[in-house]
Amino acid sequence: MHWTPDRSAPSVGQVVITKTRSPIRSNVGLKAVMAVTGILLVLFLIAHMLGNLKIFTGAEAFNHYAHWLRDLGTPLLAAGWYLWIQRGVLLIALVAHIVAATVLARRSRAARPVKYAHRTKVQGSYAARTMRWGGVIIGLFVIYHILDLTTGHLNPVGDPTRPQANVVADFAPERWYVTLFYALAVIALGFHLRHGAFSAFRSLGQQTPRGERRARAAALVFAVGLTVGYLVVPFAVLTGLVS
Ligand code: HEM
Repeated sequence: MHWTPDRSAPSVGQVVITKTRSPIRSNVGLKAVMAVTGILLVLFLIAHMLGNLKIFTGAEAFNHYAHWLRDLGTPLLAAGWYLWIQRGVLLIALVAHIVAATVLARRSRAARPVKYAHRTKVQGSYAARTMRWGGVIIGLFVIYHILDLTTGHLNPVGDPTRPQANVVADFAPERWYVTLFYALAVIALGFHLRHGAFSAFRSLGQQTPRGERRARAAALVFAVGLTVGYLVVPFAVLTGLVS
């Protein structure tokens, strides 16, 4: 019997060069990118929600807060710079969050050679299944929202020096469809946050069924709290509580 050498196996002393991914491109690295950028975006969302709630303290206080934001960091920074730094950081975080999510989703699909026959039954919670479309709706909302309340192009008042008047004009009863769009986007954001927060809390907490139940409950409380915190402003204007 003949012995044929296995040419694919390395011989003694031969250096084997294998293609390895840089740590950040590994699945663990990408999940870390998702987590860090998700935390940054959530910190912004919490601060923005608290800022919006100031509308209940009166027009003057709300406008004063908006002007204070523009002066934040002065005299170390020139007026308005803080806002631009924040915009830059948020944009980078958002792009990195989307890129990492897309690569991870593609890899997990490629790793599963046979497609699920009954996809809906085995794909996890409703929140998990709607991450992609939820993300797209939130993205479109943010573009509309900036043109509406930051640049003022889509706002009936559109005066950057009077943010309270812009918000009140936005959610006036005759523009109920704007309130409806905002409400749908904020609810989509709530579902998105519930899944994101659940993944984060589960990784941080105990890896047991009890730990998972706790993570699920904490994520639900967090997501509902933020969703309601955002929804009360448009509905307060719609019902005349804020004018
Ligand atoms: C539904 C209730 C909301 C209200 C009443 C509201 C109100 C506002 C107002 C008044 C501004 C302009 C601030 C200023 O120029 O002084 C603003 C900016 C902004 N909002 Fe909202 N917002 C809401 C929800 C959201 C949500 C859910 C998000 C994110 C998903 C968001 C993201 C932003 C961003 C990115 C800006 C631009 C900030 C900048 O100028 O750099 N907002 N919002």
